[in-house]
Amino acid sequence: MSHVSVFDTTLRDGEQSPGVNLNQLEKLEIAKQLERFGVDIMEAGFPASSHGDFLAVQRIAQTIKNASVTGLARATKSDIDIAWEALKDAKEPRLHIFLATSPIHMTHKLKKTPEQVIQLAVEMISYAKSKFPYVEWSAEDASRSDLDFLATIVEKAIDAGANVINLPDTVGYATPKGYGNLFKYVKENVPNIEKAVLSAHCHNDLGMAVANTIAAVENGATQIEGTINGIGERAGNASLEELAVAFHIRQDHFPYSTNLTLNEIKRTSDLVSKLTGMNVPGNKAVVGRNAFAHESGIHQDGVLKHASTYEIMTPELVGIHSNQLVLGKHSGRHAFKNKVEALGYQLSKEKLADAFAAYKKLTDRKKEVTDDDLFTILTEIQTTA
Ligand code: KIV
Ligand code: ZN
Repeated sequence: MSHVSVFDTTLRDGEQSPGVNLNQLEKLEIAKQLERFGVDIMEAGFPASSHGDFLAVQRIAQTIKNASVTGLARATKSDIDIAWEALKDAKEPRLHIFLATSPIHMTHKLKKTPEQVIQLAVEMISYAKSKFPYVEWSAEDASRSDLDFLATIVEKAIDAGANVINLPDTVGYATPKGYGNLFKYVKENVPNIEKAVLSAHCHNDLGMAVANTIAAVENGATQIEGTINGIGERAGNASLEELAVAFHIRQDHFPYSTNLTLNEIKRTSDLVSKLTGMNVPGNKAVVGRNAFAHESGIHQDGVLKHASTYEIMTPELVGIHSNQLVLGKHSGRHAFKNKVEALGYQLSKEKLADAFAAYKKLTDRKKEVTDDDLFTILTEIQTTA
């Protein structure tokens, strides 16, 4: 089983979700929960982006002791200096510095030649290393970069002192095969690659962030980056809870371990959702309201006989108390009887049949039958002769 480090960026890339703005105390509360969850590295923010973020990163760096705290910086001395002031009290201060390497970004955004980009990257990584013991360098838009150029700049970044090389799929354009090949190529064509940790950072524009991250790990990445609930720019980042559970449940395919405590997932997800104001979609894998809920009669009957019929993981694994049998129009007799008994009613076979008929009639009018609805039906059934 090989070990994979987890780099959480909920407080930086996650906070870049449109409409999200966390204050210092909210960031600190999430940071403490991320520490309990067991992330190895947390990106607390982007210190040069605002004074508020500077203070939040500084407070987190001074407080968190069981994870490495990092902050983002552009490839400028002033960003690096500000980040150092925010992070210098951390137990293990790290800098995350980025510079774009794709032709699209170099031409239109940076307006620099590839040679100028190499020179700037080397200069800023060396400068960062004069302050920080650990420096991660991200080749922004790596998945749309020229492979030969990427291999050249990565080699020089490592020579300049970068400890971690991150190859982001910044715009969520990659496919699992293509992103896996990118890591394979860099592994095979960068002579000093063993001196650095290779990291994967995926966005979810085509819904493949988790699959792409796994493909990177299968091809040499030993660090994964993502956010809680998959929040982040545009369609978000790779969802860390999905990755963690996928590694755990499909060990036969993914023999990778992490330091994460899986039963902290639900609590972490709820806190991030509450403080960011970003609701978790009901059908979201692992943490959605419906992830452990069963509505159809066939599924409910199966789960009541043996949970493994329709559940590939237990709710307890991720910190949810129990699964849920939701009574709706597809539900059957077995779940209905179970629910009636759970509410404290013992009905004869005939009364149970009458109650079930009344309940089925109600489901044509109501999407979900509540306990109150059931009490009304059961009281009526009991009082009729
Ligand atoms: O997606 C991205 O490229 C980023 C970088 C800042 C690493 O978030
Ligand atoms: Zn990103």
